[in-house]
Order: sequence, then structure tokens, then C-alpha cells
Amino acid sequence: MSEKSFNNVPKVIAIDGPAASGKSTIGTLISNQLGYICLDTGIMYRAVAFQALKEGIDVFNEEAVSQLAERVQIDILPAEHEDNRQFTVLIEGEDHTWDIRTPAVNQVVSEVSVYPRVRTAMTDLQRKIGEKGNIVMIGRDIGTVVLPDADLKIYLDASVEVRAQRRYIEDLSRGKKVSYDEVLESLRHRDQIDSGRAVAPLKPADDAIIVDSDKMTVYEVVEHVLRLIQQK
Ligand code: CDP
Ligand code: CDP
Repeated sequence: MSEKSFNNVPKVIAIDGPAASGKSTIGTLISNQLGYICLDTGIMYRAVAFQALKEGIDVFNEEAVSQLAERVQIDILPAEHEDNRQFTVLIEGEDHTWDIRTPAVNQVVSEVSVYPRVRTAMTDLQRKIGEKGNIVMIGRDIGTVVLPDADLKIYLDASVEVRAQRRYIEDLSRGKKVSYDEVLESLRHRDQIDSGRAVAPLKPADDAIIVDSDKMTVYEVVEHVLRLIQQK
């Protein structure tokens, strides 16, 4: 499909959903198709969790983690390496693109994402980037809290078993030594905290279109979302 086939293209597209539902894969492909930027907001929360671990901050110390979130320098740049990365992530000026995806970070990222001041700091940054338009923004609360006026909201879902299988295969292809059961357990742990928190929980916005991708390939999801964009 060429860019010309889109007339009233939504300028701001929100994609939310649980871990490993395909948000960043689909969001990147859609944004490439439209010539938009793509912001994966999970990177920001991962960066806070990573930096807390690096600085030896207790992730259960809300005050210390909140202060960290308010001062840490996070830069998300277009990928400039040929190692399959979607973005380059600099934290305090250093490349930590892969370090934010370790089991240690997975284990604590949802805990730090509960803290209201952490969320406010990240949400402020996200809105500044989002207000320029021509963007696909990906996360948990983009359609509900960060960009409630987004022109199109997609809630990308899949069962936890299918998501664990996808993430497991992805991890194996990156040479990570994990078992399917560990991945499943880690996703369940994050799902539970992400959906249960008081501030900005994971849930579809009232006006979101839910896409259940259990039986859909990446290609089929992209085609489906492009059709939704055209219908707008
Ligand atoms: O890539 P994956 O789906 O595994 O996770 P992610 O999108 O990188 O998000 C990592 C974690 O950050 C999530 O499990 C949430 O705890 C948190 N997060 C959030 O609270 N709000 C967002 N908008 C994005 C991520
Ligand atoms: O960003 P999020 O955590 O929601 O998911 P992702 O990292 O984009 O996708 C997790 C893995 O599932 C990737 O390896 C995708 O290629 C794969 N995937 C898939 O096999 N089928 C889909 N319909 C969506 C994603």
C-alpha cells in the first residue's frame, strides 16, 4: 500500500496492550509505512528500572526511584547499528539498548512503573513528543492517559500463552538462555502489576479498537491496522 492511498490519515495513533502482544513490531512497521516517528514508551520505564539497578537504588524505595525518574537523561534515537535493534537507547549518554531487556530489568520494571511521580515524569516527556503529531506511540496507557485525544487507538491483545511463545522465540533468536516457563511467568507477573495499579492501569480506552492477534501473523495485523487507518 502506498502512502498516497491514505486520505484522512490519523496524525496521532496510540497502540496499547500487554507485553509481547506485538506493539513495537507492528508500530514500527505502521510508522515506516506512514513516514511517522514511532515512540515505544516502554523503553522509558525500562530505562528508569535499569538505571535504578545500575545505581544500586532499591526499587521499592519510591522516593529514590521517583527522584531518579525526574533527573535521568533518556535519549531514544533511530537505530544506527545492524544488530536488529529498532531504536538506539542512550541512558546518561551511554548506549544501553540491549541492557534494558534483561531478565533483571523485566523483573522490576513493572514495580517502578507503579509510582505516580515516575509516571508523571515519563508522561510529560511523551506528551511533548506526541504534540508534534505524525506519530505512532506505543505503551500501556497511551490511549487512556497520555494521548486521550489520539485520532486512532488500537488495543493489541493476545493470550498470555501465545505472547510467551512469541517472546520466547524472540529471546532464543537473540541468543538469550531462557525457558518458555520463565518467560510465561515473567509476563504473568508484569501483566498482573500493569493491570492492577491505581494510576494509569493497562486497559483499553473506551474508544479503542481491540485487535485480538492470537491467530494473526505480524503481516496480517499490519494489514488489518492499515485498513483501520484508511477507514478513519
Ligand atoms: O516490550 P514489552 O511489552 O515486554 O514491555 P514494554 O512495552 O517495554 O514495557 C515494559 C514495562 O514498562 C511494562 O510492563 C509496564 O510496567 C511499563 N510501561 C508502562 O507502565 N506504561 C507504558 N506506557 C509503557 C510501559
Ligand atoms: O512490543 P510488544 O512487547 O508488544 O511486542 P513485540 O516485541 O513487538 O513482539 C514480540 C514478538 O512477537 C516479536 O518477535 C514479534 O515478531 C512477534 N509477533 C508475532 O510473532 N506475531 C504477531 N502477530 C505479533 C508479534
